[in-house]
Amino acid sequence: MSQAKKNYSRVTTASLLEMKRNQEKIAMLTAYDFTLAGLVDQAGIDVILVGDSASNVMAGHETTLPITLDQMIYHASSVVRAVKRALIVVDLPFGTYQSDSKEALRSAIRIMKESGAHAVKVEGGEQIKPSIERIVEAGIPVMGHLGLTPQSIYKFGTYTVRAREEQEAEQLLKDAALLEQLGCFGIVLEKIPAELAQKVAKTVRIPVIGIGAGAGVDGQVLVLHDMLGMSKEFSPRFLRRYLDLDGMIRGAIGQYTQDVKSQSFPNEQEKY
Ligand code: KIV
Repeated sequence: MSQAKKNYSRVTTASLLEMKRNQEKIAMLTAYDFTLAGLVDQAGIDVILVGDSASNVMAGHETTLPITLDQMIYHASSVVRAVKRALIVVDLPFGTYQSDSKEALRSAIRIMKESGAHAVKVEGGEQIKPSIERIVEAGIPVMGHLGLTPQSIYKFGTYTVRAREEQEAEQLLKDAALLEQLGCFGIVLEKIPAELAQKVAKTVRIPVIGIGAGAGVDGQVLVLHDMLGMSKEFSPRFLRRYLDLDGMIRGAIGQYTQDVKSQSFPNEQEKY
């Protein structure tokens, strides 16, 4: 089993490459706000993703499509103010990097300048090659994202496992090799067969982080609110819940409401 092999006082993209070389698994979680990002960082996570899943988790949208660049910058700058050790990666939201490479670079620069984050993440391979090239050339670290790419949900029509068919698996392998060649420092693989994910991780030298992609990759990522059990609605097979915060929060708030109504809160010690 992989354990932490080296102490990193600040995780960088170079640290992640080193972790892969040393066969140390990389732990990544999402965060979108100051308070939880601080806790996640202090607990020793390697990478914090300010994911566009904020669109679902923080804003209640059905998909990741509506979140804007300004909103991502707001979340990312809150996270940056809390974090001392983890590498902070921010999703470029839908519509800010697909139409042309100049716009992609402008969006990435806004994220880096206005939030202070360390890297950006984009969804797709061949089809966004010029955008990735331009951002990397400007010195901004880019993480790729292949497999189930939620920004393309209306093309797929479903959140089911991707790349089960040979043709799509072949394309994914080609895209992963391309992302490495373009200078991406890592790749997220979402919801694809474990065997294919392992093949990608063995083929490329850059770290491959999986979500619903099995154990044969270089690290794992989960959405923080899902792994803390803050909602019972989302229950894919790959999700391990480490807490039942949904139940704990409801219980605490129910108790508080009861205490206020019964006038047992505040008591003699809780007043001035
Ligand atoms: O936005 C997000 O949270 C993500 C992860 C699911 C990898 O992209």
